[in-house]
Amino acid sequence: MFPLFSLLLLLGSASAGTVFSAVSINGVEQGHGVGVRVPTSNVAITDLSSANLICNSNYVQPVSQAVLSVPAGAAVTAEFHRTAAGYVGPDPADPIDPTNKGPVIAYLAAVPSATQSNVTGLNWFKIWENGFNPTTHQWGSDLLFINNGSASFTVPSCLRDGDYLLRVEYIGLESATSYPGAQFFMSCAQLSITASGDALVAPATVSIPGMYHSTDPGIVTSIFGVSSYTVPGPAVFTC
Ligand SMILES: *[C@@H]1O[C@H](CO)[C@@H](O)[C@H](O)[C@H]1NC(C)=O
Ligand SMILES: *[C@@H]1O[C@H](CO)[C@@H](O)[C@H](O)[C@H]1NC(C)=O
Repeated sequence: MFPLFSLLLLLGSASAGTVFSAVSINGVEQGHGVGVRVPTSNVAITDLSSANLICNSNYVQPVSQAVLSVPAGAAVTAEFHRTAAGYVGPDPADPIDPTNKGPVIAYLAAVPSATQSNVTGLNWFKIWENGFNPTTHQWGSDLLFINNGSASFTVPSCLRDGDYLLRVEYIGLESATSYPGAQFFMSCAQLSITASGDALVAPATVSIPGMYHSTDPGIVTSIFGVSSYTVPGPAVFTC
């Protein structure tokens, strides 16, 4: 009985993922769970047609009603840790088991209200991605691990004022040689973006679910012996 239980524990920890649960804006930490819809579980979503792929599900209660004020062009950091609890001390598998590999990607969608619960039918655009660096052979996940769970990027400077959801995602590819296999982990943060310039550009957008397909080379792939990797989803929007 005991050896089986230990084995199950090992399997459980190997398949568990990571949770995006805090935001920094221009280097200022906003606090754990503040302005973020934090999923209770770090178990992967693998069904590309699931509505849970939008902003995850089963949030830690009460869901934060904070809306984070972000100047367009600001440096934003999404912080991932192994579980919904955030950083709880040194852990060799925090923010992620370092043998797990894959890209880290950030998306935005304009919304009437950043605290609205309905996330169906939004129009998303990609603002940043860290896939695989063929020179260093580092994945986005390697950089996430090296940076203690922090994924940092710039909010485009040419966006319209207003409320947005920020969706930051890690895709685990270590079981992705066939579909379903790729493991999706994401949370959404609630932003109010204040524009500075007047050169406003409307990004092209995609739907979630819908932007990823079970045949995408970035969704069905090995992590071993790769010399390049195509991050799934649309091109990164630039102003
Ligand atoms: C990692 O992040 C946590 C939480 O933000 C922080 O308390 C800890 O000091 C960081 N560790 C390192 C080595 O930067
Ligand atoms: C959520 O928003 C979508 C798109 O606007 C709409 O079609 C749907 O009816 C809404 N769902 C709920 C429960 O309000």
